[in-house]
Amino acid sequence: MRLGILTGGGDCPGLNAVIRAVVLAGHLRHGDEVIGFADGWRGVLDGETIPLDPGRCRDILALGGTIIGTSRTNPFATDEGPARVLGTLGAHGVEALVAVGGEDTLGVATRLVELGVRVVGVPKTIDNDLSGTEVTFGFDTAVQIATEAIDRLRTTAESHHRVIVCEVMGRNAGWIATHSGIAGGAADILVPEVPFDVEALCSRLRKRHEGGRFSSIVVVAEGAVPVSEADAASARGVSLPGNADAFGHARLGGIGAWLAEEIERRTGIEARVTILGHIQRGGTPTAFDRVLATRLGVAAVDAVHDGAFGVMVGLAAGKIVRVPLSEATGSLKTVDLDLYENVAGLFSG
Ligand code: F6P
Repeated sequence: MRLGILTGGGDCPGLNAVIRAVVLAGHLRHGDEVIGFADGWRGVLDGETIPLDPGRCRDILALGGTIIGTSRTNPFATDEGPARVLGTLGAHGVEALVAVGGEDTLGVATRLVELGVRVVGVPKTIDNDLSGTEVTFGFDTAVQIATEAIDRLRTTAESHHRVIVCEVMGRNAGWIATHSGIAGGAADILVPEVPFDVEALCSRLRKRHEGGRFSSIVVVAEGAVPVSEADAASARGVSLPGNADAFGHARLGGIGAWLAEEIERRTGIEARVTILGHIQRGGTPTAFDRVLATRLGVAAVDAVHDGAFGVMVGLAAGKIVRVPLSEATGSLKTVDLDLYENVAGLFSG
């Protein structure tokens, strides 16, 4: 069979492990030929392919990023986009397509299924906010990186008796903030799901420092927003959202800097900010993510050869499952509020 594969959206450690698994499982088990499309849906629109074979996949298991590139191109952004996708797949004789991505990339895949394209989705995002799987690869790596950063921030914060605000990724869901905050022993964790009260946060920090603590780490997800409208307006004023991407998402970043300033102004405790940004997405995947990505790649090829199209392979209770793409992309998987309130919340202040 001739399989196509693409990686779309923000890159993520483990993408190359999936590519390798798809190429090797396809080649060794079924004699499949695999072609990569360059830069996600962009390569499908433009008919730009990258040949993939077992030799090309040597030594990529531990490599961060994606050897076939990625983009946030949306084929449905123009009227002629879907027809161009169908044209490219036909011209290259692609019998099945493995789409590796998050809500946007797999959202496109969901719509293409309705047009008759034989697609299997593989869930990817460091944000861990995709439904239909208990975890996405890349998330574990991001949490490890953020936790190590928090550990490092703590010693310098203690030396200077400061509050350090650590801004992590998480546009709509605070999974990275919650997990790294718990793992790093953060004094407070702020997530997009629960608008935060700056005054209440400051009063917790004041009490903590008056009670003899020398430092505090506050972990804030980039998509977190203050509950008070005045604070939210003020925060928006200092953050610098760039142009929206092809899926309509504004570029985030800036809440951490705003918050550090507010904490210092309202409490008098010296505060600093560190924005981890793309460091969380770069470099080698953890062993957990390499294993998960490999399992999902093999499972995608199994689904293709079972004729199970229009599904995403995912993880449920440690086992590989197939869920309809429409279900996986129907709604986001936001943070478990029990984990956030009962576990993370126990240690705040
Ligand atoms: O892939 C998800 C994500 O990492 C978000 O957490 C973040 O808002 C966004 O990507 C950043 O994207 P970009 O690479 O376009 O700056």
